[in-house]
Amino acid sequence: MKPTAWQDRVLRGFDRAAERYDRSAQLQRSVAWRLAQLCRREGIPEGLWVDLGTGTGHLARALEHLHPDRTVLRVDGSRAMLRGHPDHAEVLHWDLATGLPGWREAPTLLASSFCLHWLPEPQRVLQQWIQRLSPTGLLAVALPVEGCFPQWQESARRCGVRCTALPFPSSDALLNNIPKQQLRLARQVTYTMASPSLPLLLKPLRRIGAGTSPQSPLPLRDWRRLQQGWNDRQNDGQLRLTWVIQLLLIRG
Ligand SMILES: C[S@@+](CC[C@H](N)C(=O)[O-])C[C@H]1O[C@@H](n2cnc3c(N)ncnc32)[C@H](O)[C@@H]1O
Repeated sequence: MKPTAWQDRVLRGFDRAAERYDRSAQLQRSVAWRLAQLCRREGIPEGLWVDLGTGTGHLARALEHLHPDRTVLRVDGSRAMLRGHPDHAEVLHWDLATGLPGWREAPTLLASSFCLHWLPEPQRVLQQWIQRLSPTGLLAVALPVEGCFPQWQESARRCGVRCTALPFPSSDALLNNIPKQQLRLARQVTYTMASPSLPLLLKPLRRIGAGTSPQSPLPLRDWRRLQQGWNDRQNDGQLRLTWVIQLLLIRG
């Protein structure tokens, strides 16, 4: 499949953000560690371990830290993201929208955090990744899903303003067609951020390069209306934004 203009925009957004990514990616770092710990508990067979959409390598690093004798191949479509990886790390520049690279051995770990939702038809891609695992291999995925950013969705609805957040796949769609005996864990976790203003609340999204939207940008007056309509202020006057993250562990 040919990479689309959308994929190109997404990757250029991450290219531009690569240098400052780590400074604003606290949530991504924390989810990567959580996923790596779940993988360790589940047990990963020896063999080829891959971090898909590795970015600056949070998940690969967490996995290698928890398994000091292992190395993880880091795959990403953004050259700038791959530039900062340590010299010893094996990296591969690859657009995952074109499918997975061909490997001589089937991977025993395909791990991916905050990448699948950027690819076209995430549920189909998930199935493809499962099919590429070695029979005892493990697929470990974390991604935001439908229901993410409820405050943003609600304020947009209330104010009659378009919600320009990226549409996320539903958990049901992702889990559809995954045989029960292969599904080792499906857990949703939430993280809530707070900030005194909407621009500050959304700043980390933009800083990590995740601000690309399939929709045209909102005019300033609509952003102002969105902020005024934001309902989730507690006594501290802060605006809140909740991430809903799906964690999945699937056996090959
Ligand atoms: C939000 S970052 C997550 C990075 C890392 N996994 C983490 O948790 O910090 C998303 C990553 O997916 C990569 N990505 C998005 N679309 C991609 C594609 N089509 N092919 C390869 N990588 C892609 C981006 O370049 C970026 O590094």
